[in-house]
Amino acid sequence: MRFDTIISGGTVHTAESSFVADVGVEKGLIAAIAAPGSLSSPGARVIDASGKHVIPGAIDVHVHLALPFCGTVSCDDFEHGSRAAVHSGITTVIDFAIPSKGESLKDAHETWMAKARGKSLVDFSWHMALTDRGHIEEIPELVEMGLPTFKEFMIYESEGWNSDDAMLYATLEKVRSLSNREDEPRAMLLLHAESPRILDLFIGRHHTPEKMKALGARLHAITRPNVVEAEAIERAIRFAEHTRGALYIVHMSTGEGTDLVKAARARGVPVLAETCAQYLVLDDSVFERSDGHLYACCPQVKKAGDIDRLWRGLGDGEVCVVSTDTCSFTREQKAMWNGDFTKIPMGLPGLDTMVPIVYTFGVQAGRITMNRLVQLCCTNPARVMGLGDRKGTIAPGFDADLAIIDPAASLTVDPKSLYSKADWSPYQGMTLHGFSSLTMVRGTVVYENGKHVGTPGHGQFVSRSGPGRLN
Ligand code: URP
Ligand code: ZN
Ligand code: ZN
Repeated sequence: MRFDTIISGGTVHTAESSFVADVGVEKGLIAAIAAPGSLSSPGARVIDASGKHVIPGAIDVHVHLALPFCGTVSCDDFEHGSRAAVHSGITTVIDFAIPSKGESLKDAHETWMAKARGKSLVDFSWHMALTDRGHIEEIPELVEMGLPTFKEFMIYESEGWNSDDAMLYATLEKVRSLSNREDEPRAMLLLHAESPRILDLFIGRHHTPEKMKALGARLHAITRPNVVEAEAIERAIRFAEHTRGALYIVHMSTGEGTDLVKAARARGVPVLAETCAQYLVLDDSVFERSDGHLYACCPQVKKAGDIDRLWRGLGDGEVCVVSTDTCSFTREQKAMWNGDFTKIPMGLPGLDTMVPIVYTFGVQAGRITMNRLVQLCCTNPARVMGLGDRKGTIAPGFDADLAIIDPAASLTVDPKSLYSKADWSPYQGMTLHGFSSLTMVRGTVVYENGKHVGTPGHGQFVSRSGPGRLN
């Protein structure tokens, strides 16, 4: 057999097993996996991976690149975001295309295509956000276009993005109607679950000059207790249970949410949940810091007990994907809050650090195995988001999206050592292992030993099929 590249003698990890092997890559695809030292090909580049982990490229299914939001635009665009992604071994990102007022879903798709085309080092797609009842009728056409996942927000009325209960219910009905088989959905609804009226009540009670002077950014956490997320998840699960439409809870941050998803799945409700790296390591003590406002995101980071419950959920299977919800803002952008907690641009940078966080706090801390890391960051995201036939594992015929991790290497996080345009990191000062020393997207090395070697524009739009079933 002929190969362009041979990754030689690394420990290859899939969702099921780990073994030392050579991986042969030809024309962008994985062509062979064989005993260490057994592959050769004249002219092939041989990359020595002995003593290193070789994993499938990670897939971050939740990013917001160059998103107009909170009166500004998130600072990582497809170029900078994808430079940060490959640092973490991420080879595909899925953004959210959000129509502006009066726009159709197809318009939003074109807008996002213009943002990404020619810029991204990694492959990309987006979930289509429904911001108008009329968008529900467009769902079948978008599914045919390779965009089978739809997003609704229960909050963000001021952005014009919020859906009410009737719209959520009707979307789940529509999603269900597209497939004859409930267990093989052709489309799925992703949901930002926070209870808007309860949240408004809490914000209204605390949005006074006196409280803002006394408590500052702590009010972001105070106004978002766990019940805000838990009630919303519970309600959405009811709708999924009744309509039988496939539901995926994004950025789940609470122990209560994890319990609800576990119980719903046990009684056969078609619901899945992701959490994000920040909810696995940060708690709301960050709001005590003098720069606590930097950490404002939605949902906000919770308490130590939630962190423990989410890790257990990742181990047991009720939480099936880790993403980042990257929505980066610089210190200058965050300063727009000017003492008013309702005006903080909400979101965190995270693409540089996703796999390192799961590796350091999951695998190295003994909470999960390397195979579970691959499931959570690579294989499950690919399957759930309809890329499972070409990405997310290391097997012949799959895209040669690969990351090599040196277990001996570590980095003490400093924004200068990251590629995000944010000039701060939520993980600043933490020593993390698990950064990628080499990242390959469809057979092309795009990042190697701290240098980007690929051309922006290498990344392609990937058409997706219906969400796959999970084991
Ligand atoms: O704070 C966040 N998460 N910002 C991005 C928008 C969202 O809700 O995902
Ligand atoms: Zn959200
Ligand atoms: Zn988000």
